[in-house]
Amino acid sequence: MRRKIVAGNWKMNGDSAFIAKIIPALENVAVADGNAIVIAPPYPYLLSVSQAIGSNRLSLAAQDVAYTENGAFTGAVSASMLADVGCSYCIVGHSERRALFGETDAYVALKIDRLHEVGIVPIVCVGETLEQRESGLTLSVVEQQVRLAVGHLSADMLSRVVLAYEPVWAIGTGKTASPQDAQEVHAHIRGVLASIAGDVAERISILYGGSVKSSNASELFSQKDVDGGLIGGASLDASDFSRICSLLS
Ligand code: 13P
Repeated sequence: MRRKIVAGNWKMNGDSAFIAKIIPALENVAVADGNAIVIAPPYPYLLSVSQAIGSNRLSLAAQDVAYTENGAFTGAVSASMLADVGCSYCIVGHSERRALFGETDAYVALKIDRLHEVGIVPIVCVGETLEQRESGLTLSVVEQQVRLAVGHLSADMLSRVVLAYEPVWAIGTGKTASPQDAQEVHAHIRGVLASIAGDVAERISILYGGSVKSSNASELFSQKDVDGGLIGGASLDASDFSRICSLLS
């Protein structure tokens, strides 16, 4: 059985009051053994969320990491710092980092390596733009992103990666990929992973992201190769996010 994961990416949102509200709500959600609720607050709140979760029912993620080790990189945060404050996951290659902050596939690959050195599981985001989808390029774009990010990993290291398919046109727009479209891309990603690492691909969780809400999550997550979700806007609503997380029971 593959691990099912619901991860909340708060992006540049949230504050101490929100943490005090959402953590107790999530602590009450029943989650089957092996599945995981992951929370990715902004950097300044990682330590307080880490202390607030206190149990192993919730896991902590960062939203990004430096591609280098500690040193003279003003404003950057290293993988070892993330491990030090209790992160067990870290998002890399989010389309907002790619589009707004110049993240390249080469940086994504380096960041995955830094995270693996400290035992943090990368959540590697891939996805096509609307223009690429309309040009029939979805599968090739996503395949190239996957290969450039994780193609250099051994099967063992690849087993310690989570993928997230996030079509750029579905992020924050209210438009969701249909469950069938999501399944098609997820199955393709799994095929690419199998070509890199064989049977290990069957054990890798592939999350869907892009306007997931409690009203559409169940149908998306019931697709064969959709192993949960990476949630933006709805992760900022304690009751909606709790309902999505309850699908992990
Ligand atoms: P939305 O759920 O707000 O569309 O965001 C998805 C996302 O980018 C999660 O990383």
